[in-house]
Amino acid sequence: MTRTVYVNGEYLPETEAKVSIFDRGFLMADAVYEVTSVLGGKLLDFQGHTARLQRSLNELQMISPVTMDELLEIHHQLIEKNNLEEGGIYLQVTRGAGADRDFVWPDPEEVKGGIVLFTFAKKITESKSLDEGIKVISVEDLRWGRRDIKTTQLLYPSFAKMQAKKAGATDAWFVEDGFVTEGYANNVYIVKDGVIITRQLSNDILHGITRAAILKFAKEAQMKVEERPFTIEEAQAADEAFATSATGFSQPIVEIDGVTVGTGKPGPVSRRLREIYIAEMPKTAL
Ligand code: PDD
Repeated sequence: MTRTVYVNGEYLPETEAKVSIFDRGFLMADAVYEVTSVLGGKLLDFQGHTARLQRSLNELQMISPVTMDELLEIHHQLIEKNNLEEGGIYLQVTRGAGADRDFVWPDPEEVKGGIVLFTFAKKITESKSLDEGIKVISVEDLRWGRRDIKTTQLLYPSFAKMQAKKAGATDAWFVEDGFVTEGYANNVYIVKDGVIITRQLSNDILHGITRAAILKFAKEAQMKVEERPFTIEEAQAADEAFATSATGFSQPIVEIDGVTVGTGKPGPVSRRLREIYIAEMPKTAL
């Protein structure tokens, strides 16, 4: 089936969708994005994703070409046109296409931002990797210093993912000044003696929408949470490790840099949090 995508005001078959070669998203990764998961044909935590999108846009002095209400309508149209039950929607807003390649930003009053959305079907509640856990490697965090802004500058995370793949692992964790920042495209956690430990929010990491929900559910379930940095050695010696993201929910991690974590099997805390997440999130889905 050919997907229907949304590009700059039009719904088109994916093969007919086009963007300008002068679009700054294409030339300079001058763009921000969001990935919202879809379960039972509904959007999980849409408000969280639009709030973060608005924040990313504000931080980069960009203006969305559509309102947040219009954005919800576009998401719904795409779910319907593509009969999407489970998976996600990718959304990208760019600074638009100036007259030429230029390091100077065009005036937002004159050049309208670009916008692209597309759906992807994917089993997000169940998978072999969720059942068995995954292996990760650590790599130096060489990204820019504003990781709180969800930009499309993903070359280094992609490079890190390839390094993981070459090493026979699935994901990469970034390390800076001896401490883990986050995963290549997720927030990361360890569990030691019943305490969930995850790095505190700052410009060093993306403020994960799934992270916020998972920590809220953990606290409601009387689990102890400590927000502080941890090292790879501490993670290797932990009882459990896991990662969260919109499309990965809480992904168990069973090996870090060749060292088995805990029993080498997904731990009870990440499993419990995934169950709560899957049970609770549809209640507020749009
Ligand atoms: N990645 N940290 C980074 C660097 C990320 O790229 C992501 C999400 C997260 C988790 O954020 P959230 O829970 O809001 O999805 C943390 C998306 C899914 C991606 O790039 O595909």
